Amino acid sequence: MPPVPGECQVWRLPIGPAHWAGLDVLDDEERQRHARFRQVADRDRYQAGHVGVRMLLGHYLGVPAGQVGFSRHCRHCGAGHGKPVVDQPATKLDFSLTHSGEWVAVAVAADPVGLDVQELTGGTDVAALSESVLSPAELRWWTAQPAESARRAFFGYWARKEALLKATGHGLAVPMNRITLTPPDEPARLVDWAAERPLDGPVQLHDLDVGPDYTAAVAVLSSLPVRITRAEFPASLAAGRQLPDPA
Ligand SMILES: CC(C)(COP(=O)(O)OP(=O)(O)OC[C@H]1O[C@@H](n2cnc3c(N)ncnc32)[C@H](O)[C@@H]1OP(=O)(O)O)[C@@H](O)C(=O)NCCC(=O)NCCS
Repeated sequence: MPPVPGECQVWRLPIGPAHWAGLDVLDDEERQRHARFRQVADRDRYQAGHVGVRMLLGHYLGVPAGQVGFSRHCRHCGAGHGKPVVDQPATKLDFSLTHSGEWVAVAVAADPVGLDVQELTGGTDVAALSESVLSPAELRWWTAQPAESARRAFFGYWARKEALLKATGHGLAVPMNRITLTPPDEPARLVDWAAERPLDGPVQLHDLDVGPDYTAAVAVLSSLPVRITRAEFPASLAAGRQLPDPA
């Protein structure tokens, strides 16, 4: 069943061509983007995300996956790098896609939603990025953390902020260091939005446990508490069988 207001579904999508019936459901632009990736891993994550989103939304909207239409105009400059939204068929369902390491996942909700997963491993120099990602108050908290937990805490903030900026559609147009959140060892909550561009409404933030090597968060623009349900995307959907409801 599609999510009802107050519910956010998070689906993990399996990675690898064996799970997906080719690229036929993608549009020309998606196929071109898929072909441009040099790394097989990037290409496979892209296929999982875009084929999976189409199959899931097509299932919910009652249309073939290849007939789900998207638009993605940036709300600030009008360019084609904005928040992707379904414009065919007309729907209030919103979705948010994320790819990171072994994770490709999509959140679907009846309100604007953002999902982000961040991989902790890799060469990211968190100290070098800290002033552009963390607000002054967050930076004071973060620099007081022991070295062994600081990296995870940094990516905890980052996932929460990206989830929020994907829900609003601001993307990189709002500097992350203008947003202050509760510290990652407390329930996620927006403390202050000091960006010039306004926040559209109340926000519900939730952390997701996706294992020791990742942080993840979901944001829903709603004044109501949000129930998060999670499920693995079943390969059986590709074979036309029934999607189980997320638990
Ligand atoms: C939004 C963004 C920062 C997320 O990047 P990321 O965390 O590295 O990557 P993720 O895999 O978690 O998320 C990427 C997905 O977010 C979605 N997305 C892209 N822009 C988005 C936006 N503005 N709002 C919401 N979602 C967005 C897309 O589905 C994208 O996947 P796709 O490219 O395969 O379609 C990145 O996509 C981006 O750089 N966007 C455009 C640049 C921008 O905002 N410029 C300033 C505006 S003038």
